[in-house]
Amino acid sequence: MTAERTQVAIIGAGPAGLTLAHVLHAHGIESVIIERRDRAYVERRLRAGVLEQGTVDLLRTLGLGARMDREGLVHHGINLQFGGERHRIALSELTGGRVITIYGQHEVVKDLIAARLAHGGQIAFGADDVSLHNITSDRPRVQFRHDGRLRELHCDVIAGCDGSHGVSRDAMPPGERQIFERAYPFSWLGILAAVPPSLGEVVYAHHEHGFALHSMRGPQITRLYVQCSPDDTLDSWPDERVWLELEARLSTTDGWTVQRGPVLEKSITTLRSVVMEPMQHGQLFLAGDAAHVVPPTGAKGMNLAVADARVLGEALACWYRRGDRNGLDDYSATCLRRVWRAEHFSWWMTSMLHRFPGHDAFQERLQLSQLRYVCRSTAAATSLAENYVGLEHV
Ligand code: FAD
Ligand code: PHB
Repeated sequence: MTAERTQVAIIGAGPAGLTLAHVLHAHGIESVIIERRDRAYVERRLRAGVLEQGTVDLLRTLGLGARMDREGLVHHGINLQFGGERHRIALSELTGGRVITIYGQHEVVKDLIAARLAHGGQIAFGADDVSLHNITSDRPRVQFRHDGRLRELHCDVIAGCDGSHGVSRDAMPPGERQIFERAYPFSWLGILAAVPPSLGEVVYAHHEHGFALHSMRGPQITRLYVQCSPDDTLDSWPDERVWLELEARLSTTDGWTVQRGPVLEKSITTLRSVVMEPMQHGQLFLAGDAAHVVPPTGAKGMNLAVADARVLGEALACWYRRGDRNGLDDYSATCLRRVWRAEHFSWWMTSMLHRFPGHDAFQERLQLSQLRYVCRSTAAATSLAENYVGLEHV
């Protein structure tokens, strides 16, 4: 067994863990990241695509924004579609000039890994059997198997950034935590297609067959989703069926429709909401999906992960610099305010746009009334817009 020491042991090299390592580095604090998967896998994993203004600002401040600024697509609005008509929500006009940036999560992850390694940071890719010990003492440690040997990392603090299927959340004693959950009775089938986006902005469509979403990853790559049954497998969605459903759900009465192209990737994502309270126990701090999950309809998951990492990194910096524990003690409460706002917004968007089992004429009329209200009332549109671009103060 090799024993090593660092200040902060970070479990997971997703957006939360990588951002935290960079915030700590900016304050001169050492960390080691322990990641279960290999580098190529982590850099290829397709997930979110919409960065809030606050996420972009933080990445720039940390000196990590160069490629994002070159290749990311800055959008000033999104579209809601229902009854075959498209309605634009002018995000920037409604929020004093704030924007969203379309830049794939795996591109963010690539940039953060490259910069971390360039700074001499350690990332142990392909780590197995990760376990957390002594989390309520001031000498916690993480054990793991890496490159054929057992390693033990002694640290001051453990940051559990290992997503919703990681080990960190289970290290929180059941009697000390509460879990709040909702499972949604549908999933999203997503494709990546080698075809230019059919429209310059994201489109959220309400349709009698179910929800559909048009998004993108660059000038030549379209990202599209359709609501499907939670029991569906990829076998039940051959490309032809996917395109027929996308055309049915996204076409407008003025003749606009989605352009087809070669399907590069296809996957199914279940939709759920989860929050664990508190997000801290002893010297273990959870960040990102390890502590909370949102359905993707509000595009909030990655942004929340980055926001947690910033709060935790700044709180640790105060503690190391001045011995001031206030930020660490408030960590959970500070993050949970933003988390619950995002949970509500994501649940609200999901409820307004999807078809639920037992969907009847009453539910349909409520959804359409809400959609019309959001598109016609400046007050309602502003509420959507400020949540979508990300609230500065929650
Ligand atoms: P993750 O990105 O999950 O990173 C956790 C890391 O920890 C991973 O690299 C994992 O390999 C590693 N890990 C796990 N277990 C261990 C262990 N035991 N030891 C060491 N390392 C471990 N959000 C959106 O806003 N829009 C979307 O379209 C969208 N699509 C999604 C599709 C899928 C399939 C999933 C799962 C999520 C999606 N999300 C989406 C949510 C968004 O991607 C997440 O909120 C975001 O990845 C959270 O970042 P994170 O760093 O907390 O966790
Ligand atoms: C995406 O581009 O993958 C995307 C966009 C908006 C969402 C979810 C996913 O709400």
